[in-house]
Amino acid sequence: MKQSFMTLQRHIIEEERRHPEATGELSSLLWDLSLATKVISLEVNKAGLVDILGFTGDENIHGEKVKKLDMFAHETMIKAMDHGGHLCVMASEEEDDIIHIPKNKRIGKYVLLFDPLDGSSNIDANVSIGTIFSIYRRISPNGTPGTVEDCLQKGVEQVAAGYVIYGSSTMMVYTAGEGVHGFTLDPAFGEYLLSHPNIKTPKRGKIYSINEGNYKYWHPGLKKYIKFLQKDEDPNEKPYSARYIGSMVADIHRNLLYGGIFIYPEDIRHPNGKLRLMYECNPMAFIVEQAGGRASDGKIRMLEKQPTSIHQRTPVYIGSEEDVLTVEKFLHEEENVTA
Ligand code: AHG
Ligand code: MN
Ligand code: MN
Repeated sequence: MKQSFMTLQRHIIEEERRHPEATGELSSLLWDLSLATKVISLEVNKAGLVDILGFTGDENIHGEKVKKLDMFAHETMIKAMDHGGHLCVMASEEEDDIIHIPKNKRIGKYVLLFDPLDGSSNIDANVSIGTIFSIYRRISPNGTPGTVEDCLQKGVEQVAAGYVIYGSSTMMVYTAGEGVHGFTLDPAFGEYLLSHPNIKTPKRGKIYSINEGNYKYWHPGLKKYIKFLQKDEDPNEKPYSARYIGSMVADIHRNLLYGGIFIYPEDIRHPNGKLRLMYECNPMAFIVEQAGGRASDGKIRMLEKQPTSIHQRTPVYIGSEEDVLTVEKFLHEEENVTA
């Protein structure tokens, strides 16, 4: 029987020990983050039991209805993270402006961006949801309050990124630029234990994940690509399987392990797609690349995109390297045809 007693804390410390110049600050930041997600996980698990479901009646800055659990997760993240002395500024999907560190707290050198609860429209149906985070080193002078510019760095500058999936079990998957590691939360003693060391995603998968209901709005290249995966023209070839949960974290987590491609494209209604660059696509792109996969907006590498605003949206094509290369080819060919 395989047993693992490598806790998240031990793993983070051991990773950091390999870098003599490290101060331990990133370790304690990740540790604080893991604590916040344990609190969120507990609340997510209780969601069916206590009267926490339903809309608050408020809308977030994107005009979407916010559920109570979104706000709980948002506030929990802030409460757990604003006084550790490691951060200079934060940004969350649920807040229009950047979030400053309180004046009486020590100001640190890191920047944290997060989606406190991803896939929140699935909460009522007991479907997997998640938390996504992205960490940068500040670029503004140390000791001063963090700025919007600190938050608007390219994805390649991330020092760490991760997600927590609240599924049949709770898992944290993170990278600090040296591979991707997955930890499963033991609910009995509240520790994340290493369950998926050094995750590598298959070079080609057999799954595609996209909201196919939007087919009629797609660009022709994407329509052709999906027909290609369905092997419409070749009756002897086995088609890809379609899997779409509607929670980015859960869809990408499954594809990371099994191989496949997740797409949230631009279409004729939404030229920039739906998902957010800074706290959805960039952290996921960092993780997927570290696992040997590929992520782009269809034209350029996701991590190379120059951000212009905290809440900007981007099309996303992410997953197994060969699958992403293939869709890029389809999009590119169609562009040349219409040009
Ligand atoms: P959030 O709950 O943080 O707003 O994100 C929801 C996102 C993402 O998780 C998912 O992939 C996508 O919305 C699903 O969108 P559609 O319902 O348009 O397919
Ligand atoms: Mn989201
Ligand atoms: Mn969200």
